[in-house]
Amino acid sequence: MEFFLDTADVDEIREIASWGILDGVTTNPSLIKKSGRDFKTVVKEIASICDGPISAEVTALDTEGMIAQGMELKSQLPDNVIIKIPCTPEGLAATKILTENEIDTNVTLVFSASQALMAAKAGATYVSPFIGRIDDTGSDGMALIAEIMATWQNYDVKTKVLAASIRHPTHVLQCMQLGAHTVTMPTK
Ligand code: G3P
Repeated sequence: MEFFLDTADVDEIREIASWGILDGVTTNPSLIKKSGRDFKTVVKEIASICDGPISAEVTALDTEGMIAQGMELKSQLPDNVIIKIPCTPEGLAATKILTENEIDTNVTLVFSASQALMAAKAGATYVSPFIGRIDDTGSDGMALIAEIMATWQNYDVKTKVLAASIRHPTHVLQCMQLGAHTVTMPTK
């Protein structure tokens, strides 16, 4: 099981890393904007604190733009940075190309098992279902984790399931009980 932090706050990351339980970090443009610092500077600093996968998200909406940004980020940032891509048709196409170029990806904004399957087919290293956001709509986010894990069991799927939009400790426990490979959570 992997524990990731979902934050761009380097002090928080440093503290949790010092506990010996931090396997990686996910960031997004809003989290980095909140820190008020330069995107690449923050990601480099995070990557120096935690040697696990650090997700850096692309902002382009088109396939070519996502590929170009992903390749640029890989060439300018430390080796443990992986590229976070939205689960859109354009994002799936970009994931396929980045995977062919041996660049690890985290396909994010996944709200259904069908999206998770397509991301896995495109070669994603991680796929990120958004539990809390699904709960917010009145549906059951944890049911999606169960559905994805059950589907994964039928095949030799290499893509790791990274449960995201985690809101409380019980979400973490339930994800782990369902066999999710990774959970990314805010520090609190
Ligand atoms: O990892 C996804 C996360 O950043 C969104 O979380 O709590 O705003 O839905 P939340």
